Amino acid sequence: MNRVSDAIVVEGLRHCYGGLDVLKGVSFTVHAGEVFGILGPNGAGKTTLSSILTSQLRPTSGSVSLLGLDPVSKGGELRRRIGLVGLEHKQDGLIGSYSEGMKRRLNVALSLVHDPEVVFLDEPTSGLDPLGRRQVWKAIWELKASGKTLLLTTHYMEEAEFLCDRIALMDRGVVAALGTPSELKARMGTGKIIEVGIEASAELVDEVSRLIPEGRVYRSMGLNIVTGDPEPALQRIMKRFISDPGYGGTRILLREPSLEDVFLELTGRSLKEESRASEGENMKSPAPPEEKTGSSWNPFRHFHE
Ligand SMILES: Nc1ncnc2c1ncn2[C@@H]1O[C@H](COP(=O)(O)OP(=O)(O)OP(=O)(O)O)[C@@H](O)[C@H]1O
Ligand SMILES: [Mg+2]
Repeated sequence: MNRVSDAIVVEGLRHCYGGLDVLKGVSFTVHAGEVFGILGPNGAGKTTLSSILTSQLRPTSGSVSLLGLDPVSKGGELRRRIGLVGLEHKQDGLIGSYSEGMKRRLNVALSLVHDPEVVFLDEPTSGLDPLGRRQVWKAIWELKASGKTLLLTTHYMEEAEFLCDRIALMDRGVVAALGTPSELKARMGTGKIIEVGIEASAELVDEVSRLIPEGRVYRSMGLNIVTGDPEPALQRIMKRFISDPGYGGTRILLREPSLEDVFLELTGRSLKEESRASEGENMKSPAPPEEKTGSSWNPFRHFHE
């Protein structure tokens, strides 16, 4: 039984292009007024899913209810009640002189002219520099504050974490996990992560596993060790790497688990594809809020364009 306050209900959704299964039974519910994120790497099926929800693509099977309506049979009515933010724009006149971030903010604004109830944003900040990204985040934050339901697809974990109430981690056509950012990170247990900034061989992973038998060692962007008791492990790691001339100057840091760690743990794959790694490096986490007071919290109140 769906709740009246559910804006989107997706059940057992499958899609194939030719013989290729790209959605393999996707189910989730988006509550009215929430920002729901679909976070996944290239080819996860995010755009396919979003195209089905917005009645631009007919699913192979499964059911979708958007504002209580079926996008296949009620596409016309739904298009008047949803906002689609196209990232293309005209390269002319005044608009042409805007920064990319401003153009996308304008696109977000234009998608709202007919006061839609649900707004779809497919990779709204892909390819933007940090300033442009913040400009788009500000527009999205304003949308959220105005009470719209938002479905946002992204491959940036910081973006999903910063903007979304709940996130579906998507990989190869399936939802690997779903929850609030803190619920998802809680799946890593109480452990902290020691990150060693080196490209590790399988042999080195084995060696470090023997060195830290109480921890879990795996390769991510560097060599990661998850452990509930980081201090003694950190000492052994420092001794191992700092005394070895081959690793002089290696960055070693201790941090909380991120959504990237959760994704890697669940799927064995990184959110960051090779082709996007350099772009991802420009990505800076937003400054932490100084105070958080219920729904009036606005992380952009000190933000000036
Ligand atoms: N029109 C199409 N015909 C055939 N295959 C397609 C088509 N569109 C997408 N695919 C394939 O379906 C899979 C999912 O693609 P989709 O675009 O939904 O992923 P995505 O998560 O949006 O990826 P990205 O991060 O690159 O935008 C990919 O393997 C893609 O190559
Ligand atoms: Mg896509």
